[in-house]
Amino acid sequence: MCGIAGYIGPRNAVRTVFEQLKLLEYRGYDSAGIAYLANGEIRILKRAGKLSALGKAVEEEMPEASQAIAHSRWATHGGPTDENAHPHYDQYQQIAIIHNGIIENYLELKDRLAAEGHVFRSETDTEVAAHVIGREYEDGLPLEEAVSRAVHKLRGAYAFVVVSKREPGKIVATRNASPLIVGLGEGEQFLASDIPALLPFTRKVVVVKEGQVAVLTRDAVRILDSTGRETEFEPMEVQWDVAAAERGGYEHFMLKEIHEQPEVIRQCLLGRIDEAGRIRFENIFSDYVWTEIDRINIVACGTAYHAGLLGKHLFESLLRLPTDVFFSSEFRYGDPVLSEKSLAIFISQSGETADSLAALKLCQQRRIRTLGVVNVMGSSIARECDRTILTQAGPEISVASTKAYMAQSVVLALLAFYLAQVREAPGVRVGEGVEELRRMADAAKRVLELEPQVRELAEPVARSPLVFFIGRAADAHVALEGALKLKEVAYIPTQESPAGEMKHGPLALVERGVVAIAGATDAHVREKTLSNMMEIKARGGRLIAITTEDDWSCEQVADHVLKVPKMRFDFFSALLSVIPMQLLAYHVARERGCEIDQPRNLAKSVTVE
Ligand code: M6R
Repeated sequence: MCGIAGYIGPRNAVRTVFEQLKLLEYRGYDSAGIAYLANGEIRILKRAGKLSALGKAVEEEMPEASQAIAHSRWATHGGPTDENAHPHYDQYQQIAIIHNGIIENYLELKDRLAAEGHVFRSETDTEVAAHVIGREYEDGLPLEEAVSRAVHKLRGAYAFVVVSKREPGKIVATRNASPLIVGLGEGEQFLASDIPALLPFTRKVVVVKEGQVAVLTRDAVRILDSTGRETEFEPMEVQWDVAAAERGGYEHFMLKEIHEQPEVIRQCLLGRIDEAGRIRFENIFSDYVWTEIDRINIVACGTAYHAGLLGKHLFESLLRLPTDVFFSSEFRYGDPVLSEKSLAIFISQSGETADSLAALKLCQQRRIRTLGVVNVMGSSIARECDRTILTQAGPEISVASTKAYMAQSVVLALLAFYLAQVREAPGVRVGEGVEELRRMADAAKRVLELEPQVRELAEPVARSPLVFFIGRAADAHVALEGALKLKEVAYIPTQESPAGEMKHGPLALVERGVVAIAGATDAHVREKTLSNMMEIKARGGRLIAITTEDDWSCEQVADHVLKVPKMRFDFFSALLSVIPMQLLAYHVARERGCEIDQPRNLAKSVTVE
């Protein structure tokens, strides 16, 4: 999810790409760098930390150049350090590259190149790609041909931008599964990973297609297909205003992030399922450790805690592995009973939540094994845990967490099936689980198509004095997340509980005019949930049911029915049902005129108790 920029033309190229990076900072912000050509050499300026650190270096050195490439990083391979920041050189410093994506086979390529004497200065997959391109370039090919040949050796997702000191006056770029846009000017050309970074300079853009290679010179842009043949292209005129463009055309980051979920699911799985369909994690515990673990304790706050509940559901139902889920703030002061062979999993988007960090310290003091499930690489929790799995969801800007929840849940599902694979759990069909995980991105995309229906429900929900969220099994866990979304962005009081608990108290709150949202995706308990729905209806409540596409029973009871794809494992259908709940919270908040991306009284990262 990194930001990419490039420029060639009469302006000061270093300043131009830096201006572009400022507009891309939301894509990644743990380090940044620029490569530019000066006096026949490629110079690189790069700094760990926020973009301002690079800005300071630019101000101090004031470099002048007519071509430059720039990158703001969202770390995946290697922590956020100066060395790991992009751009990276090849072995002979002939070329410099920037990259957005993940090269899955980089370890195997790195070993091969190291055996030939290549020396690597960083821990990144990108530097390996630079060396692979550089090696092709040694044969005297034009840069675009070397890039084109090299990418056939790489597996994974990428958008690369490359400059060479042998061919000044040229920038070459290519992509596979990561975005790349060319901006066309008069006697100058631009590149960026997103349209916002082009708008102050040009509105005429070309979206580079998968496998194509773009060759930029001051006066022209050529687009080559994967065989090197020049192809025609149709520039587009962008109408967006600059502020909306930063949000990719969406009115709010929350909506953008909800819509990013299919891509986030793909990113979560990237590099973690091999060609034979086996799950693998880098730098994780040994199989021996995984087999020894006798209990899991999941520790987290807010939305991450809700993802933890889904994790418990899977670890227990699939693996029969006892699992508890704790609020970090309770765990840290609760003197928890922790067995020697247990594993503590810390889930956190930011990796900086104060209570979760304190709970992690407690586990460290007790010498309990710890695993982080974290979005921000290099964050405190990611660093402090014995092992960490990154959720690879990219920066989440909206305070209300949406795509991070999806990523955390998908990683936990992947982990559960990984454990089943390692522990050879009886009766668990790991292959089917992997297939389902692979289906999830497309299924999520289909669920997003429910948005027009959801939007219509926003008005009645916005008028409800109280909204109930109910469900059973995994649906009960998702109900908690749906309720949290609605209260945090739309400020509507909610009452969330397992459907079967309603009669034990909350039912007293039902009266004419209240709305109840019932998750009924799990066919095993749907009949029971339907009875609870009828009890609400009989007391004047208005019902919105979320069920699976194969079900027709909810129509008998509910006022509105939203349907998500039926998945083979109930967990996945339930997880998909969070998407209409997120959309509903968003549209209700919009209806009520709330500050959606920054709800009152809340902060994105809770770094104090
Ligand atoms: O960064 P973390 O995942 O550790 O944050 C935990 C909670 O503060 C967070 O999930 C919060 O509940 C969300 N903003 C809710 O949308």
